[in-house]
Amino acid sequence: MAKKKISVLVGSLRKGSFNHKIAEEVLNIAPPGLALEILEIGQLAYYNEDLDQGDPPQEWVQFRDKIKNSDGFLFFTPEYNRSVPAVLSNAIDVASRPYGKNNWAGKPGAVVSVSISALGAFGANHMLRQSMVFVDVPMMQQPEAYVGNVKKLFDESGNLVEDTKKFLQNFMDAYEKWVGKF
Ligand SMILES: Cc1cc2nc3c(=O)[nH]c(=O)nc-3n(C[C@H](O)[C@H](O)[C@H](O)COP(=O)(O)O)c2cc1C
Repeated sequence: MAKKKISVLVGSLRKGSFNHKIAEEVLNIAPPGLALEILEIGQLAYYNEDLDQGDPPQEWVQFRDKIKNSDGFLFFTPEYNRSVPAVLSNAIDVASRPYGKNNWAGKPGAVVSVSISALGAFGANHMLRQSMVFVDVPMMQQPEAYVGNVKKLFDESGNLVEDTKKFLQNFMDAYEKWVGKF
């Protein structure tokens, strides 16, 4: 059977981003039924309805196509001031428009939130879920993934500790089953 195309969105543009590192780990352990691809979002102009009147920016068109042709979405998000970083929020807005052409609708999603603090970016995780309700992305409810104290989860050689690897593996196995329901 063909693999399901899962677009991966990372809410940090930072070179040394922990969210990006965790996303890369997940790419390495992805279940066989899922083909994961990280989509760039930093190049997307801030959403402005005026730009959607004629020919929208080319990068919006390409990004919308990618989202439209995905079978599901995986989000990795830091928390900025108890919310979702602007770059990720913008990507959600861009692919949800123009009005009446929401490219997200009906595809299964899941979120992993990652923070250097103990709370595991709980706020961002749930703010993201709130937006996903509106753009009609059914988000996996369990297991939840709040990765806190992330700096402590990599050893001196930069390898992710085994416990967290197992946790992510379990999360991805559940997500594969979630995708299979749609
Ligand atoms: C503007 C800004 C706001 C932040 N606000 C929060 C926050 O509300 N909660 C939190 O846990 N960490 C917060 N942080 C710290 C992030 O957890 C930390 O920078 C983390 O490493 C970001 O993820 P990244 O490594 O993937 O870039 C904030 C960081 C920045 C730059």
